[in-house]
Amino acid sequence: MVESIEFDLIICGSGLAGLRAAIEAARKNPKIKIGIVSKVQVMRSHSVSAEGGTAAVLFEDEGDTIESHIYDTVKGSDFLADQDVAERLCVEMPKEIYQLDHWGMPWSRRKDGRIGQRNFGGYSFPRATYASDKVGFFEMQTLYDTCQKHENIEYLNEWFATSIIHDGKRFLGITAIELSSGTFYSIKGKALIIATGGAGRLYSFSTYALSSTPDGLDMALRAGMALKDMEFVQFHPTGILPSGILITEGARGEGGYLLNNKGERFMKKYAGEKMELAPRDIVSRAMMTEMSEGRGFKHETGVDCMKLDLRHLGDEKIKEKLGGIREISIKFSGLDPATEVLDVRPVCHYMMGGIHTDIDGATELQGVWAAGEAACNSVHGSNRLGANSTSECIVWGKITGNLAVDYIEKFDMATPWPHHLVAAEEKRIYDGIFRGNGDVNPYEVKQELTDTMNDKAYVFRNEKNLVEGLKKIRQLKQQAWKHVDDKAKEYNTNFSNVMELDSMFRVAEIVLLGAINRKESRGAHSRTDYPKRDDANFLHHTLAYYDPKEPIMKTHPVTITKYQPVERKY
Ligand code: FUM
Repeated sequence: MVESIEFDLIICGSGLAGLRAAIEAARKNPKIKIGIVSKVQVMRSHSVSAEGGTAAVLFEDEGDTIESHIYDTVKGSDFLADQDVAERLCVEMPKEIYQLDHWGMPWSRRKDGRIGQRNFGGYSFPRATYASDKVGFFEMQTLYDTCQKHENIEYLNEWFATSIIHDGKRFLGITAIELSSGTFYSIKGKALIIATGGAGRLYSFSTYALSSTPDGLDMALRAGMALKDMEFVQFHPTGILPSGILITEGARGEGGYLLNNKGERFMKKYAGEKMELAPRDIVSRAMMTEMSEGRGFKHETGVDCMKLDLRHLGDEKIKEKLGGIREISIKFSGLDPATEVLDVRPVCHYMMGGIHTDIDGATELQGVWAAGEAACNSVHGSNRLGANSTSECIVWGKITGNLAVDYIEKFDMATPWPHHLVAAEEKRIYDGIFRGNGDVNPYEVKQELTDTMNDKAYVFRNEKNLVEGLKKIRQLKQQAWKHVDDKAKEYNTNFSNVMELDSMFRVAEIVLLGAINRKESRGAHSRTDYPKRDDANFLHHTLAYYDPKEPIMKTHPVTITKYQPVERKY
């Protein structure tokens, strides 16, 4: 008999989007029972590692405009953003900055006492709202603290959600494993918000927490929802060597330079006006080009890199505004940015794709919404501007929390609980994975999978590499890695790792298939064999649906309201 518990609203994921959704729902209806189900402890969610800023227009009196934020976002997206969605983000965001302020967010301040904003790539105005360079950490603390005011929020920390239970039309609940005991549960619910974040651990060189695997995306996929635009993976220009930990774009926003081995600020060749503050896709391509043409450096690990120079900012400014990355540089690379240049190269940082939703975050399954990086409401198109992601989490956390409560209040449950689906999921997990057989080491397979993604689907792509990558992933998938050698019930991380790997295969395949099918270069998807954007054939989103044999690929129209696509120049 499977253990069973019940909530009105289940939120999977305890990062910024999940917490913001919980607060909104709890405030709107204090009588509903909310359960936040998270693979990790709340303050270990990957959102805590967001560094440089949250984008919003705060200074209309000094010349910034909402219109300009919308246009910058759409242009940054290489015109693949749904323009109504970009508008929603930019209109909603300013009040969220002040809402966070009222909840206790320690924003950095200007000398006149107003909330501070700094420059970020691709913007026409400094609008990355910051708190030193620990924005995500402080935002998470603020939201988590605010959650404590609401007695109707419960935390299921260190629970691994495994599947979505539905009747073909409507959401009914999820299944999950309580990691501390190893117990398998049914969690019944009226509504679900998926806020499980991105899947950047598909790549071996990554800024993501090790927990950022695609199990949340895969759960939606297996339940019949589409994943959208998964081929668009963002490579942040400045992952520090050797770890790949993020060095915030705020470092360049505060005046840092990128240098080649001739001592040149090479960005002048690629983006004469914006220089180091061009959008990330452009800066990352410029760095890769400099390295491949022999103007890079060799790191002691043998990896090619470029230099980030912050020395001219001075020790005092670095300590005040970039204290987090100063500490990271010293502790993880042995370099003090006040006196030494840093070794950096493009690193997997964000997935523009995710669970296909509409402008409200509603998925294709009634009663299920998705918010934050797990979702693809198409606000970022093919390339996200820095600082727009924490904004997205907050705006769509609020929107989905609100809509889920409306839905719950009108809910009349008639569907009997489908015990057979829960039994099938239990069999998939325990017979298929936990008690599986095989002699191939799943950790080695995971490493090979992530190395393949790094080698074959990185900043520059081409047909040959992508097809080889897909072939390799499919070969790896066939190997006998699906087994768990540790038979413990409690905190079995061997089990969690194999479960994560299982989801990685399905989602990696979709990233590669989407990239093979998109025979153009747009935003972060840069094909050397199709170097131009092709609006005639590819101004559309990619959808991928689950099929046990191979994903079913479809397309979906882009919403264009005001801005016709033009060539991007910076
Ligand atoms: O560079 C950064 O601080 C990253 C910000 C973001 O991805 O939005």
